[in-house]
Amino acid sequence: MGLCRRIENSETRTIIAVQGWIGGTNAAEFGQEIDRIMMGMNPEKLIIDADELEYISSAGLRELMKLRKRISNIIVRNVSPEVYDIFEVTGFKEVLQVEKKIREISLDGCPLVSEGTFGKIYRLDNDKIVKMYRPDMPKEYIHSERVMAQKAFIMGVPTAISYDVVRCGDSFGVVFEMFKAETLAGIIRKDPASAAEYGRKCAALLKELHEIEPEKGDLPDCREKFLGWTESMKQYLDASEISLMENYLNENIPDKQVFLHGDFHCKNIMEVDGELMLIDIGDASMGDPAFDLGQIMFSQIIIPKTTKTPEQAEMLLGFSADIARKFSGELISAYFGTTDHDKLADITAKLDPVAKFCLGKYATSYTAGNEDATANIVEKLIRGSLIPALKNAPKVDF
Ligand SMILES: Nc1ncnc2c1ncn2[C@@H]1O[C@H](COP(=O)(O)OP(=O)(O)O)[C@@H](O)[C@H]1O
Ligand SMILES: [Mg+2]
Repeated sequence: MGLCRRIENSETRTIIAVQGWIGGTNAAEFGQEIDRIMMGMNPEKLIIDADELEYISSAGLRELMKLRKRISNIIVRNVSPEVYDIFEVTGFKEVLQVEKKIREISLDGCPLVSEGTFGKIYRLDNDKIVKMYRPDMPKEYIHSERVMAQKAFIMGVPTAISYDVVRCGDSFGVVFEMFKAETLAGIIRKDPASAAEYGRKCAALLKELHEIEPEKGDLPDCREKFLGWTESMKQYLDASEISLMENYLNENIPDKQVFLHGDFHCKNIMEVDGELMLIDIGDASMGDPAFDLGQIMFSQIIIPKTTKTPEQAEMLLGFSADIARKFSGELISAYFGTTDHDKLADITAKLDPVAKFCLGKYATSYTAGNEDATANIVEKLIRGSLIPALKNAPKVDF
């Protein structure tokens, strides 16, 4: 049997499966086989499926390098950890796009830690958890959650180490270091008097995050994300309403580019040996701190006012609306280093439109695909609340 075979060929991409052991004695044969398969072909993208590749020597890699001269986009996928090491130490990982094979895991006997909207978290072993996503979640989203967590960790954000993307049946997940700790939501719920102290600790953590300045392009641009959402609302709003929203994002929010968590609340923070650790980094981005601060106002102040019952708010926040007000009040006061009533009122007024953007974005993420429900949300929360807040909105100038 040969070392490679073509398994797909179209105008845009060709897929070749490679198998076995490619070393000094058969590298030339490997090169000839590839040449034969690729004869007269010039695809935009060549995918090498390495699922059954056991080993590749430098002579084999050189054959791949020859292809690279005429096809610039080559992806080597389903690479085993051993073969991946070879691509890494030889520097080929920098030239070709090399993607590791997804490990299959079993969740038999793994205790369920938590169940959220997008999936479930299981304890995998003594020091790892796995976040398994619903089967309908896009694979890019799962991959991006892992990449984001890794980038944040490298930038110095106190967060769980992320390991590989894994598969269990038709679901994919990401393995993370497990913190043997409780979330702040759990701690504060048991001891509401600690809300103020944790508000201050969280302000210090947030300031630490907002001192990180990622390189341009390292993380998604938060303003672009909000503009993208605004664009998606075009079918429900007038052109003047859309341009009011766009102008606000472009003109009223400064151009600062710091690390933003994007979903900073007490269920996404754990206290590990006295130190606060962030989890759930998938929404991280870069932009002005007002986006994180507005999001905090949205989750702690606006959500409790919009849920049908106090119990619903408590379920979302992890504690009561009163505690959320105390916690976020202390956080904002400590973040800006002021207890002055007028100054705090001014800050709140400046964050209010951002918080209302977050509300619209959050609510419509749950009605995506359902036009009537989205139109209803738009009428109530965007036309009824966000748009009026944007008229003569103050510029953010923190
Ligand atoms: N690294 C971790 N260590 C320990 N527990 C975790 C870890 N990551 C998540 N959890 C638990 O799972 C819950 C949900 O995790 P999270 O990443 O916030 O998922 P979701 O996207 O559903 O909000 C957390 O509130 C926490 O209780
Ligand atoms: Mg979470």
